[in-house]
Amino acid sequence: MTKILFVASEAVPYIKTGGLADVVGSLPKYFDKEKYDVRVILPKYACMDELLLAQLKFVCHFYVNLNWRKQYVGIFTTEYKGVRYYFVDNEFYFAGDKPYNNIYEDVEKFAYFSKAVLESLPYIDFAPDILHCHDWQTGLVPVYLRTTYGSDNFYAGIKTIFTIHNMKFQGRWKIREVMDITGLPEHIFRTASGLESYGESNYLKGGIVYADAVSTVSPEYAKEITTREGGEGLDGLMNARIDSLYGIVNGIDYEEFNPETDPHIETNYTVKNAVAGKRKNKLALQKMLGLPVRDDVFMIGIISRMTSQKGFDLIAYILDEIFDTMDVQFVVLGTGEGQYENMFHHFHNKYPDKLWAHIGYSDEYAHKIYASCDAFLMPSLFEPCGLGQMMAMRYGTLPIVRETGGLKDTVEAYNEYENNGTGFSFSNYNAHEMLFILRYAQNIYKENRSRWNEIVQRAMQKDFSWGASAKSYETLYDKVTEDIK
Ligand code: GLC
Repeated sequence: MTKILFVASEAVPYIKTGGLADVVGSLPKYFDKEKYDVRVILPKYACMDELLLAQLKFVCHFYVNLNWRKQYVGIFTTEYKGVRYYFVDNEFYFAGDKPYNNIYEDVEKFAYFSKAVLESLPYIDFAPDILHCHDWQTGLVPVYLRTTYGSDNFYAGIKTIFTIHNMKFQGRWKIREVMDITGLPEHIFRTASGLESYGESNYLKGGIVYADAVSTVSPEYAKEITTREGGEGLDGLMNARIDSLYGIVNGIDYEEFNPETDPHIETNYTVKNAVAGKRKNKLALQKMLGLPVRDDVFMIGIISRMTSQKGFDLIAYILDEIFDTMDVQFVVLGTGEGQYENMFHHFHNKYPDKLWAHIGYSDEYAHKIYASCDAFLMPSLFEPCGLGQMMAMRYGTLPIVRETGGLKDTVEAYNEYENNGTGFSFSNYNAHEMLFILRYAQNIYKENRSRWNEIVQRAMQKDFSWGASAKSYETLYDKVTEDIK
């Protein structure tokens, strides 16, 4: 049995700000349970749902040193859908109404979390073969393991995998302060082969440098981060680690996202009755949102964190022209940067019959939008994997995406000559290219519905469940542990 502990800052259902939580909260369920014992450790945030917090059981407590600080660590545990979860409790670090705050607070919070995770291992009766760390918040786990704990027998054999869900967020902060927080030896901040990066310390870089293997969430993104345009300043390092760099595309939770059983949607449907099923859902959603109730209008969904990564600048630039020249309705769900939230407020006021937006997040709305829309727009500037496009296809809602990262790997562009493909795509980060492809898609929807319905069928039949990806992670686990077996 190979024992693996996922170390992450978020996982559904406990805490979610983005796709990372969907991945950490679903992937562990899909491993071969005879061979892999996969568990998860998270911070115990005060802002987690009270009902979920109430289910956690106290295991033990101890203290951890962060340089001159001595901090309390409580460990809690629970089982959720067959997966064992552990939580690190500290009311000072994990207080507040959201998991992340200012970077100068977060660097200390996650240095503490990383050390607390490592020191919790002897207490939780689970000596992992592999610590599988996710994103910059856990980048110091491999660093501490190799520097501070390396010589201790208990830790010596533990391997680490570091998965990058987003290269843009690196956890960068002043070297002097991070040295004081972490108590890590000075020499690892001095050279480019350690934590130093452009004059700052960099947690993501720590994870990449010190882990036994590095992975990211799609093969295409794995390529992009080795280039100047996609490397966010770390492309040189990615090239140096290219022999241990893997691209494994994410899956989605097929139990959670299933039009056949989804309790949130008006009418359940399968690939066989998708046309009628989607129509009913669309009319019900239009009615509920106060949009004109019309089946023939081309309805486009957007569900996204509202950040520049997601291509909202293209939408801001072209939305007037879209509404002037196309018969469309937009249904938008998400939160994020104020400028994009305001943009959608503005367009909703200007075109109340054509655009509905909810600034916030709601599972119920999300599922309804996936089920009801005709198309799903994701014009990302960059996209490590992207999950929305896969959820949309599962519900027969055709993705319209920019060809980048995981979007390129998962959406096959419709080819009218060969009649294949599962969605639509454009290549350059250009608003008129996006407009052109939106019109092209709308045209097929309006003029050639039978063709459209065939694309829907193909999209729904694609397999985006975790099966294949979990197998790829298993192969990676086997590889990383080969020399300790
Ligand atoms: C991040 C990326 C997104 C990816 C997700 C899960 O949110 O931006 O592309 O799907 O992580 O890996």
